[in-house]
Amino acid sequence: MAMTLSFHLNGDRVDLTSVAPTTTLLDWLRAERRLTGTKEGCNEGDCGACTVMVTDDSGVRALNACILFLPQLHGKSVRTVEGIAAPDGTLHPVQKAMVDHHGSQCGFCTPGFIASMAAAHARGDTDHDTILAGNLCRCTGYAPIVKAAKAAERATVPDWIRDKAPEVAALAIAPETSDDLAEWYAAHPEGTLIAGATDVGLWVTKQLRDLTDVAFLNRCGDLQGIEDTDDALRVGAGVTMAALLPVLDRVHPGYGAMVRRYGSEQVRQAATIGGNIANGSPIGDNPPALIALGATLHLRRGTERREMPLEDFFLDYGKQDRAKGEFVEAVTIPKKAQRLACYKLSKRFDQDISAVLGCFNLTVMDGVVTKARIAFGGMAGIPKRATHVEAALTGQPFNGAALDRAAQEWAKDYSPMSDMRASADYRLAAAKNMLRRYWLEGQGTATQVREVRA
Ligand SMILES: Cc1cc2nc3c(=O)[nH]c(=O)nc-3n(C[C@H](O)[C@H](O)[C@H](O)COP(=O)(O)OP(=O)(O)OC[C@H]3O[C@@H](n4cnc5c(N)ncnc54)[C@H](O)[C@@H]3O)c2cc1C
Ligand code: FES
Ligand code: FES
Repeated sequence: MAMTLSFHLNGDRVDLTSVAPTTTLLDWLRAERRLTGTKEGCNEGDCGACTVMVTDDSGVRALNACILFLPQLHGKSVRTVEGIAAPDGTLHPVQKAMVDHHGSQCGFCTPGFIASMAAAHARGDTDHDTILAGNLCRCTGYAPIVKAAKAAERATVPDWIRDKAPEVAALAIAPETSDDLAEWYAAHPEGTLIAGATDVGLWVTKQLRDLTDVAFLNRCGDLQGIEDTDDALRVGAGVTMAALLPVLDRVHPGYGAMVRRYGSEQVRQAATIGGNIANGSPIGDNPPALIALGATLHLRRGTERREMPLEDFFLDYGKQDRAKGEFVEAVTIPKKAQRLACYKLSKRFDQDISAVLGCFNLTVMDGVVTKARIAFGGMAGIPKRATHVEAALTGQPFNGAALDRAAQEWAKDYSPMSDMRASADYRLAAAKNMLRRYWLEGQGTATQVREVRA
């Protein structure tokens, strides 16, 4: 790389001039810096053993170093577990609390927990169950760890941990604006865009792919805005799931509740809405919710822009309506919905990919369904609307008989496959049951069965 990549590491400036752009922070820390406190468990973003703290102008977050490429750190500050205690050895409050509450046994997971806890402590975030869902511990168990996190809540954030992002020069592979990105991509249509790298990271660590012609999106500030108007949210492609969550909680709480179960805190802090749409996955969590809401996708190639209903973007398995050199610029999400519900079904409650994801957006006036938009992930090769079921419901009283009539329509909309996550029959049965759940919830019936708490 004929350019300088700069960041702060545990308070010291690092300038790198020759490093492959897809070098992960974890490999670099352990192999080049011999900072082996940050552990490698899964090398695919699942276990949190590699968690580090990353600070920039927008705040402090916990990220998984195993799927974080070095150029994503340009202009940021990183702290590994070696940099969380004070230079004189004084423990950070979360470290002291982990000792006091016996939060560590074999210790393999501990550096990752400490980094997640210190990042949350710096932000004053006390939702420990949510924050720690992406850190796996096989031997201590979560009760002492959560107790430790609680005990440290009130301690002051130590001065030594307050990082400032360094001043840096431009980095050619990390455009600063969407105009620069558009120009780069038009000139390199075969190149790879990297946003949060929660997919692309695995292409490198698991598929051992060699990516050379790459552009990083995370410095394009103008792709990271959320415009909130009277009737819609225009969300830039670079908005992370973590940044979107508080807005969704306010505008579409049903969608927000689903996003809270999207990956883990570390994944949500990296993954972008643009990446989740552009990858065309049939089990991506955002597209069904967006399709149920009637979202519009904004694409750009060079100076040309076009837009389409999001549902038209997904053509077939692995095939989207996106030309070479064209990228996702934003998605517009209507704010109006009488009642949007998103049901995510996965083998684990937290940090798991959906087997079936159903999103329901029905308008019911005087007991009659006047409008129905239903979209599913995991039921076809693409995220897809249930048009036959919608038609069977529209114009009918919303009651048990309507559900029974609609029951025959599901198989016209979907012929799901059987895989390791679920069988085809299970998927169809689950989809039908989700509609019943939506109907019951509309009548105030309690349907939430998972209330197991530490
Ligand atoms: C541990 C773990 C848990 C996960 N859990 C979930 C989950 O619960 N639900 C879920 O839906 N997904 C999940 N994922 C998958 C992943 O987080 C998402 O698909 C994510 O949204 C991808 O976004 P990204 O910004 O990281 O994309 P990247 O990995 O950077 O890119 C993904 C793809 O999109 C392209 N791309 C990125 N941005 C753009 C753009 N603006 N325009 C055009 N192309 C673009 C890239 O070139 C690449 O092809 C998980 C992943 C991991 C590792
Ligand atoms: S090593 Fe498991 S999340 Fe990074
Ligand atoms: S202390 Fe052993 S894995 Fe957590």
